[in-house]
Amino acid sequence: MNDFLYPPRASTYAGDVDALMNFINYLSIFFWVLITGAILYFTWKYSREKHKAPAPHNTALEVTWTVIPTILVVAIFAWGFKSFMTLSRAPRDAMEIHVTGQKWSWAFEYPDYGIQTAQNLTVPVNRPVKLIMSSTDVIHSFWVPAFRNKMDVLPGRTTTLWFEATEPGDYRIYCAEYCGDSHWNMTGWVKVVSQEEFDAWVEENTKEDTTTPLAELGEQLFTQRVCHTCHSTDGSDKIGPTLKGIFGHEVELADGRKVIVDEDYLRESILEPGAKVVKGFQPVMPSYKGQLKDRQVNALIEYIKTLK
Ligand code: CUA
Repeated sequence: MNDFLYPPRASTYAGDVDALMNFINYLSIFFWVLITGAILYFTWKYSREKHKAPAPHNTALEVTWTVIPTILVVAIFAWGFKSFMTLSRAPRDAMEIHVTGQKWSWAFEYPDYGIQTAQNLTVPVNRPVKLIMSSTDVIHSFWVPAFRNKMDVLPGRTTTLWFEATEPGDYRIYCAEYCGDSHWNMTGWVKVVSQEEFDAWVEENTKEDTTTPLAELGEQLFTQRVCHTCHSTDGSDKIGPTLKGIFGHEVELADGRKVIVDEDYLRESILEPGAKVVKGFQPVMPSYKGQLKDRQVNALIEYIKTLK
């Protein structure tokens, strides 16, 4: 069940997280009203005109207002700790997926199936999934509000997060840690599908595409691998240089050298982006070495050649 205060609840533990949140909220509202009311009432009742002497000491009252809040705070801690342990420990049979955060996209790898994707994560419903996460550059944070979980993704360290989706549908992934210019756009979707649809998706993604014409495949990859976040195809410069009309032309590099943009330069720039950075741009592009198959690199090159 959902209500207007929250995003949809789509994981096994989302209900518990919201229940604890509600408990703390309503408890806070109750005590806010009680304490504010008491202050106003006592200000009036014990005003200086009416009362010259201080109020007498009342041990029973003091014990009461110490013990009751202590019990409530310990209850909140115990409940929170229990929920935290649930969120921290993935079930043993969870399906593992590696997540890489890089400025400014999410990459996913399914070791069981040999599948790599970017931006969107496809998972079966009612099956625990464990995410094994790291970053290639700065600190990011993987957040799916509908699942009520969030975990920092760090360079040089591995963090994990697990969830079991309860409802098929598309749920937003956000980066919840400021990580530079396009932090706001470091988003994606978790696509929760039935087991049958997931099997079909695996089937579709494990067979290597050998039939789509290269330039067409390149255009698909350009969107799938979110190249467009940094490179426009219309002549405007974004975080990286535009790719329109660059092929066959000379560009000036940061170190003053000049190179002609040919197939070899494009391949190098995809696999080793730091090698020859164009003047006026930061060396922020992640390497796609190991993330793209050879035919996919060729496809991107052929696509860039069509951008006249
Ligand atoms: Cu990645 Cu913010």
